[in-house]
Amino acid sequence: MATRRRFVRTACSAVILSDLVTIGCSAPSVTNIGDDDDAGSPVPTVTPNGNLVTLTLADYPNLMQVDGVAFGYVASLQLTILVARTSETTFIAVDGVCTHRNCYVAFQGASDDFYCNCHGARFAADGTVVSGPTSIPLLSFPTTFDGSAVTVDISSATA
Ligand code: FES
Repeated sequence: MATRRRFVRTACSAVILSDLVTIGCSAPSVTNIGDDDDAGSPVPTVTPNGNLVTLTLADYPNLMQVDGVAFGYVASLQLTILVARTSETTFIAVDGVCTHRNCYVAFQGASDDFYCNCHGARFAADGTVVSGPTSIPLLSFPTTFDGSAVTVDISSATA
């Protein structure tokens, strides 16, 4: 894990900020990102408050709909969070960078799990590996929802 984190941090050092907050990743493949080692692709930056990252639905309109997805980059941790809405009141959040070779993973709403389009890794909703080539799970983060914003607890990324 330490090797992977080091690599991701290096790869993310050149992140360019952009308005890709509404990346449409609910389909099985990611069309605008997904090449090998694309962890440095543009993802909007989010600023944590302590260990909490809050995404308002007003700012992340993809999250207004079930199966909607948003990415956020925490620069201080060089961490890319993927948040997916799984029901009217529930969300899941994981490290959105595949543990194999650093492509972004895509949320699959039909099965509430994650797929990596680069080499076919599959991860369960809690980030555990369903099928390789990787054997390393995605970090998973608890979420809460107050009706207008999703809050992601990224404590496990700082441990
Ligand atoms: Fe995800 Fe290879 S980078 S399966």
